Amino acid sequence: MVIASFKSLHFLLGLFVSLKLLALAQEENQFIYHGFTGANLLLSEIAKIHPNGLLELTNTSKQQIGRAFFPFPFQFNTSLFNNSRSLSFSTQFAFSMVPELPTLGGQGMAFAISPSVDFTGAVAAQYFGILNSTSDGLPSNHLLAVELDTVQSQDLKDINESHVGIDVNSLISIESAPVTYFSDEEKENKSLTLISGHAMHVWIDYDEVEMLLNVTVAPVTRTKPTLPLLSTPLDLSSVMLNSMYVGFSSSTGAMASNNYILGWSFNRGGQAQSLDVSKLPTLPTRRKSRKKPQLRIVVPTITAIILLVAISGDVFIIRRKKYEELREDWEQEYGPQRISYKDLYKATKGFTDKELLGCGGFGKVYRGVLPSSNMQVAVKKVSHDSRQGTKEFVAEIVSMGRLRHRNLVQLFGYCRRKGELLLVYDYMPNGSLDKLLFRNETPSLNWGRRYQIIRGVASALLYLHEEWEQVVLHRDVKASNVLLDADLNGRLGDFGLAKFHDHGSTPQTTKVVGTVGYLAPEITRTGKSTTCSDVFSFGTFMLEVACGRKPVESERPPEEVVLVDWVLECWNRGAILGTVDPRIEGNHVEEEMEVVLKLGLLCTHRTPAARPSMRQTVQYLDGNATLPDLPLHGAGIGLVPVSNEVSREHVLTIPISSDEISSYSLSDSESILSGR
Ligand SMILES: *[C@@H]1O[C@H](CO)[C@@H](O)[C@H](O)[C@H]1NC(C)=O
Ligand SMILES: *[C@@H]1O[C@H](CO)[C@@H](O)[C@H](O)[C@H]1NC(C)=O
Ligand SMILES: *[C@@H]1O[C@H](CO)[C@@H](O)[C@H](O)[C@H]1NC(C)=O
Ligand SMILES: *[C@@H]1O[C@H](CO)[C@@H](O)[C@H](O)[C@H]1NC(C)=O
Ligand SMILES: *[C@@H]1O[C@H](CO)[C@@H](O)[C@H](O)[C@H]1NC(C)=O
Ligand SMILES: *[C@@H]1O[C@H](CO)[C@@H](O)[C@H](O)[C@H]1NC(C)=O
Ligand SMILES: *[C@@H]1O[C@H](CO)[C@@H](O)[C@H](O)[C@H]1NC(C)=O
Repeated sequence: MVIASFKSLHFLLGLFVSLKLLALAQEENQFIYHGFTGANLLLSEIAKIHPNGLLELTNTSKQQIGRAFFPFPFQFNTSLFNNSRSLSFSTQFAFSMVPELPTLGGQGMAFAISPSVDFTGAVAAQYFGILNSTSDGLPSNHLLAVELDTVQSQDLKDINESHVGIDVNSLISIESAPVTYFSDEEKENKSLTLISGHAMHVWIDYDEVEMLLNVTVAPVTRTKPTLPLLSTPLDLSSVMLNSMYVGFSSSTGAMASNNYILGWSFNRGGQAQSLDVSKLPTLPTRRKSRKKPQLRIVVPTITAIILLVAISGDVFIIRRKKYEELREDWEQEYGPQRISYKDLYKATKGFTDKELLGCGGFGKVYRGVLPSSNMQVAVKKVSHDSRQGTKEFVAEIVSMGRLRHRNLVQLFGYCRRKGELLLVYDYMPNGSLDKLLFRNETPSLNWGRRYQIIRGVASALLYLHEEWEQVVLHRDVKASNVLLDADLNGRLGDFGLAKFHDHGSTPQTTKVVGTVGYLAPEITRTGKSTTCSDVFSFGTFMLEVACGRKPVESERPPEEVVLVDWVLECWNRGAILGTVDPRIEGNHVEEEMEVVLKLGLLCTHRTPAARPSMRQTVQYLDGNATLPDLPLHGAGIGLVPVSNEVSREHVLTIPISSDEISSYSLSDSESILSGR
């Protein structure tokens, strides 16, 4: 008897516990957060919650990841009413992306539904900390994500630099769109900028009966637009597992933004609760933001200003002159790319010689720290006669700022003064390649690094030639224009700048654009640069890196003065490896060295059409294609046979005397972004 009642008590208790659990589970079919103070979220990498409740996924540190996931998975295998599978869900959240520099976003963020919160192996930048290049696309990922992307990644087929995309198992979106919202009052689509820093509201709704995934975005101040931005037919039955986590993952890349989530609601099965905008935490005030002054303060302030001006009129005028800029109407559309002279002046401590990194044909380069973002930059001061072509040139510079590649030096913005143009670039702490290559200290740059740098520069050139929306010619590929970042990756700088000579006043160099020794012979004939002439310069550059010497060294024995001819001659003798930089001390991979030297010769073929394209060049370097057999003892290297001259007069088509060579002093003739 006693035993029986004990049993029933036990049963009752058990029933109670399971009922309680069920209730909990039902409650946990949805949640809502207005700010995240005290929220029990799974935070990983650099994500953190501010005291005011703001969830910060990333800050302005580069190449970082920040994630925040709801701590328990949702069961998608039960419907609220019966035991059948139900995949419907709805979520809304408010976010803000505050970039380090006004116009350049640093990657972005994704709302993700994933079977696990273990993202080991996932990488930052374009993979948002949820996938990597090998896991991307695998059906076993069981991943659904909605990305808010602020950088155009060619390899992931992004449509442009500010878009929303729906991703299933892969960050190559199944559908994406530039960010707009439908204004119900005006009956038209309005464009939004993800990196405006303003808070925005996102709604994501999936209905398993309709099999439609809707994504809607609007400024946080507006109600949900009646038309979604994306409404994509999608069958999630094979994507979703029974148990799935929901959350956010965000990343930064070469550029970075502060990415915040202000509020979030989710519902599995029904409509997510609406966020109350008034309850959301406030964003940190921007250092540069100017609040509207109140009238009470305005009147005395104005009086004070007038007084001040009256008293120190002279000082005022002097200060104004000091920071004076040149601004014209047509520049208005480039507003955000414009960086004020005052900021640059402060950044470089008044362009003091202490901050001078280098100088050369184009002008001087200073190191600086931008006061608004504490960011290290290199400021290039180019003397520029604003007579003609300025408009086209500035337009070009601004569009160069939109180029993104890990092996290009990022251009952030510009400023214009009378007779002067200032260009602001990412600071490269390890200086230019030629300085490392030609210094006599040991240990020298090893072969592995050199090969990596060559491949990096090749992929940057391929991007400029074929992968961007326009064909960009570099026109001045050479070791002194390759800079090394903190990880010693090679980054091509000064792209397109050589064209400057066409537009502005011509500095000391000749009319021909480029640098002696790297110039393709046809340029001296036609004066026109092409992708083939960039390939020629790249060929010379490869030989330069492999042989550890400049393309023209007049103090050498006559047969060795011109690098390309010397390598060709050694190759004809079957002794091509005799040209390898002795500082490598034989520690190189023979096959790689041979590819580089032979490819160097192929790229510097005097017939432009015989040179490989950058795409082929990259394939040869990556070992994805075998170099065509170069006939030994034949002058007709390459695809188009040329006549049987012994020397192909690579560079010497330009008659240069030896004192001209020294006055061009190949490595010093150009400004160098960094290093000492
Ligand atoms: C970003 O956050 C990480 C982790 O909290 C911290 O180590 C780093 O210094 C922060 N970076 C900046 C630029 O604040
Ligand atoms: C279970 O409930 C859902 C939602 O009400 C309904 O659509 C579905 O038809 C039901 N399934 C079964 C097997 O009754
Ligand atoms: C990619 O991620 C997977 C896990 O998803 C990991 O096993 C793999 O090692 C990663 N690959 C690379 C190249 O990091
Ligand atoms: C990319 O965005 C721009 C506006 O930033 C827009 O004009 C353009 O149409 C978009 N491209 C595509 C392919 O949607
Ligand atoms: C607005 O955008 C939506 C979705 O991108 C599109 O279907 C619709 O036609 C657009 N409407 C107008 C008036 O442009
Ligand atoms: C998605 O949008 C379409 C078109 O506006 C609408 O018919 C549908 O009901 C929406 N579905 C959800 C789940 O919001
Ligand atoms: C749903 O799936 C989870 C995890 O796979 C499992 O533990 C649970 O028993 C399932 N529930 C039902 C009702 O099938």
